[in-house]
Amino acid sequence: MIEVSAPGKLYIAGEYAVVEAGQPAIIVAIDQFVTVTLNEAKHSGSIQSAQYSDLPIRWTRRKGELVLDIRENPFHYILAAIRLTEKYASEQGKKLRFFDLKVTSELDSSNGRKYGLGSSGAVTVATVKALNEFYQLGLDQLATFKLAALAHHEVLSNGSCGDIAACCYGGWIAFSTFDRQWLADEINQRTISELITSNWPKLSIQPLTAPSDLRLLIGWTGSPASTSDLVDQVNHSRSSQQQRYSHFLTESKACVEEMITGFRTANINKIQQMIRKNRHLLQELTSITGVTIETSALKQLCDLAEENGGAAKSSGAGGGDCGIAITSQKSGILPLMSAWENAEITPLPLRVYHLEKRKDR
Ligand code: PMV
Ligand code: MG
Repeated sequence: MIEVSAPGKLYIAGEYAVVEAGQPAIIVAIDQFVTVTLNEAKHSGSIQSAQYSDLPIRWTRRKGELVLDIRENPFHYILAAIRLTEKYASEQGKKLRFFDLKVTSELDSSNGRKYGLGSSGAVTVATVKALNEFYQLGLDQLATFKLAALAHHEVLSNGSCGDIAACCYGGWIAFSTFDRQWLADEINQRTISELITSNWPKLSIQPLTAPSDLRLLIGWTGSPASTSDLVDQVNHSRSSQQQRYSHFLTESKACVEEMITGFRTANINKIQQMIRKNRHLLQELTSITGVTIETSALKQLCDLAEENGGAAKSSGAGGGDCGIAITSQKSGILPLMSAWENAEITPLPLRVYHLEKRKDR
């Protein structure tokens, strides 16, 4: 039996801007996992997941016609990951075999995505990793990222693939995504093996080290939102405000780069200042697009963190889900924890997950 896991993630800064090639974000892997087990089978295979079987199938209308939104359904990511990794395996001369694949997720509750910790990236990476072992492909972190990103491309995901990068590398990372148009053009002309070994324009994944006295606190505000819907809405409404949107991108890049400097020089103050700056920039994006990112519950989460010595912002697409606060070890965290709890914000007891610590994962 093969058993592999991939961690969940949280965005720290650079959200929305990061869906554009070359725009930086900071993302962290957290210690909740999607686990895939794989057993060799004969004549036919199966895919099974208790958590995902209960998920509703979402649909919308386009020109009056019912259209399924497969981007929300983890089974499509699993299928795409299997198809692409097997295509790569065949190119590498491996003989394809049958298997039963089972997925369990700590990132989802049985009634759907609960904490917004990003299971579509994790399930894709865990599937690629399981097949990597099954076919003994010897994929490294970057090759795993590329195969998982190709699977997301196939499902027509509108995401940046930052969640995939956090999953593959663990810890804190600075991430910029690749040029999607380049990938769309290359995909029909090259083998998977060629794509995996080529340099993807604008893609950058750099591990970061957090200052030793930095603390990351995570609060959950409930009302989970659909990331792909929110990104669609931003994409749709920004087109009439091109100039202000470009300004947002420039400012977000400067802010995240400054935050990366804060990490490299172990300067918590600078990191905190840039968290606040990024929060304002996301508010600016709301005023450009009309899309609510910081809900009133997330505002409260941030305000309470500020009153208790932290710097805070929404994490990821927002519209509910999690917010993050950065504090220094010295300032103590208990007053903030109780303030959040009194305001019905759930502190999540999650830790940053570093790959070295769990060799099997
Ligand atoms: O809501 P989350 O944690 O899945 O984060 C989404 C972050 C965005 O930048 C809005 C989208 C993306 O894929 O990068
Ligand atoms: Mg989210």
